[in-house]
Amino acid sequence: MSAIKNVAVTGASGSLGTVIFDHLVSSGKFNITVLRRHGSSSKFPEGTKVIDVNFDSVDELTAALKGQDALVSSVGTPLLQGQKLLVDAAIAAGVKRVLPSEFGSNLDFANTRKLPVFAHKVEVQDYLKEKAKTTPITYTFVYNSAFLDWGLQHNFLLAHAEGKPSIFDGGDITFSATTLSSVADAVVGVLSHPEETKNRTVFIEDTKITQNKLLELAKKANPSKTWNPQPAKLDDITAKADARLAQGIFDFETFVPYIFRAILDPAYGGNFPKTDNELLGLKGLTDEQVYEVVKKYVQ
Ligand SMILES: NC(=O)c1ccc[n+]([C@@H]2O[C@H](COP(=O)([O-])OP(=O)(O)OC[C@H]3O[C@@H](n4cnc5c(N)ncnc54)[C@H](OP(=O)(O)O)[C@@H]3O)[C@@H](O)[C@H]2O)c1
Repeated sequence: MSAIKNVAVTGASGSLGTVIFDHLVSSGKFNITVLRRHGSSSKFPEGTKVIDVNFDSVDELTAALKGQDALVSSVGTPLLQGQKLLVDAAIAAGVKRVLPSEFGSNLDFANTRKLPVFAHKVEVQDYLKEKAKTTPITYTFVYNSAFLDWGLQHNFLLAHAEGKPSIFDGGDITFSATTLSSVADAVVGVLSHPEETKNRTVFIEDTKITQNKLLELAKKANPSKTWNPQPAKLDDITAKADARLAQGIFDFETFVPYIFRAILDPAYGGNFPKTDNELLGLKGLTDEQVYEVVKKYVQ
């Protein structure tokens, strides 16, 4: 497969997209075009090629994607399902590689694919896989399990803000975790190795960690805080989520338990047995670097 030079990015203003955009630009390897929603207030550095598009229009998307070798999508939840139109447009425009907005849990596990929170991602994956059989389009899915820095910043992986983090099923379950910066490096790595990453999943991680280890590091980072961890069970929180779903409530509170299930439950593959770090140029984090990440966000 020929080298990838022209790269379009959607969702480039998001939590992850901002970092992916920066790393793609600073790699100096690619010509970047940002596809932004009409009416979006997102801003990019002067000189950035930005095309405002209607994400519901295959024609507009196709015109915007003409001449692009690859499309990296890091759109957030509201636009995940709409990526099927992006795929149609990418095919019509002759784009060679699509990286849909994955960047999370191990959807190669059947259990994980069944979790309601991932329904749109699975739909887009299935669509891409089918299209890759009948058109020249190719794909790569990037799995990083939990975002380490984002997860701490948003009081999610370890709810440290009030010193009362929920610790699930004893807290000693090992899971893979990755910083946004390493996810962005992996995207650069995929686009730099198109043949080796063609039509497959790549797995990346910075570290393997547990909630108890995160708690230990958080206590070290802020020893004067009162820490009162709350034992909790994955089965209990997902049962509540199931009840909310049954009532037709599809909000953040409903979906978070399923994400914890995907990250922590060994039957859902959130601890990667092997990774593509080496191929993609990722070094991982030392214990000291993991501590620095925790210290930055745990106040
Ligand atoms: N593994 C983990 O722990 C973890 C955690 C969080 C997220 N993720 C995944 O990472 C990917 C990116 O998530 P993110 O949190 O970075 O996304 P985000 O910040 O919520 O949104 C990314 C971008 O999507 C665009 N967008 C399109 N339609 C939108 C709409 N209707 N409302 C708001 N924004 C819209 C916006 O860009 P423009 O305004 O420029 O168009 C926005 O900046 C997703 O696949 C998500 O599931 C993984």
